[in-house]
Amino acid sequence: MGRIDLIEITDLRKTYYMGKVEVPALRGIDIRVEQGEFIALMGPSGSGKSTLLNMIGLLDTPTSGGIVIDGIEVSSLDHNQRADFRLRKLGFVFQFFSLLMELNAIENVALPIMMDERKNDRAALLLELVGIGDRADHFPNELSGGQQQRVAIARALANEPAILLADEPTANLDTESSNQIVALFRELNEKGQTILMVTHEPELGEKADRIIRIKDGRVVV
Ligand SMILES: Nc1ncnc2c1ncn2[C@@H]1O[C@H](COP(=O)(O)OP(=O)(O)O)[C@@H](O)[C@H]1O
Ligand SMILES: [Mg+2]
Repeated sequence: MGRIDLIEITDLRKTYYMGKVEVPALRGIDIRVEQGEFIALMGPSGSGKSTLLNMIGLLDTPTSGGIVIDGIEVSSLDHNQRADFRLRKLGFVFQFFSLLMELNAIENVALPIMMDERKNDRAALLLELVGIGDRADHFPNELSGGQQQRVAIARALANEPAILLADEPTANLDTESSNQIVALFRELNEKGQTILMVTHEPELGEKADRIIRIKDGRVVV
């Protein structure tokens, strides 16, 4: 059996409007991502990386063009179906970890796992998987930046997402922690996780299977 295209993006365009001023953020993007790939999305600031990731993450809607994820044309989904799709198929990691400060590590990870009586067991396994099983009871302010990002990654994996989306996940980390986070992505990818990671650190991008470069809202070929 051949490999499956997990993401198929066709002539994707996004124009923002600032009052009457048009800001063309994506100007016709075509991308295919196979299941099991680890992709680094790179490009200068303002080139459209976050816009693209937000479209794939169903956090924003395109002006035109197609996005098929796991066989589903996501632009045909209504509001509730989009929320459902996001919850079931996608995991998000952001620059600013986005943990709830009142919850400890294991509670943050368990948060998105619904309808599962054994959710703390699963959250504990996820913390082990990301290498901080011994920090389950720690609150975010008792963890380093790198450890907080590991909690955020464990949380993103809680629903066994088809795709892990990460927007500059190492932008607030020192070099050593950044390398460790990308090494963790590599490990997760070797277990089969499809990953799309935005970064503008060339050394980190090189750790991916493939680099897709974006400039001025287009893929650089
Ligand atoms: N919500 C928005 N409203 C208006 N313009 C936006 C909005 N989001 C992004 N942009 C513009 O779209 C372009 C691409 O932005 P972005 O995708 O955030 O770039 P990157 O993540 O590569 O730095 C930039 O010119 C940015 O100013
Ligand atoms: Mg960005």
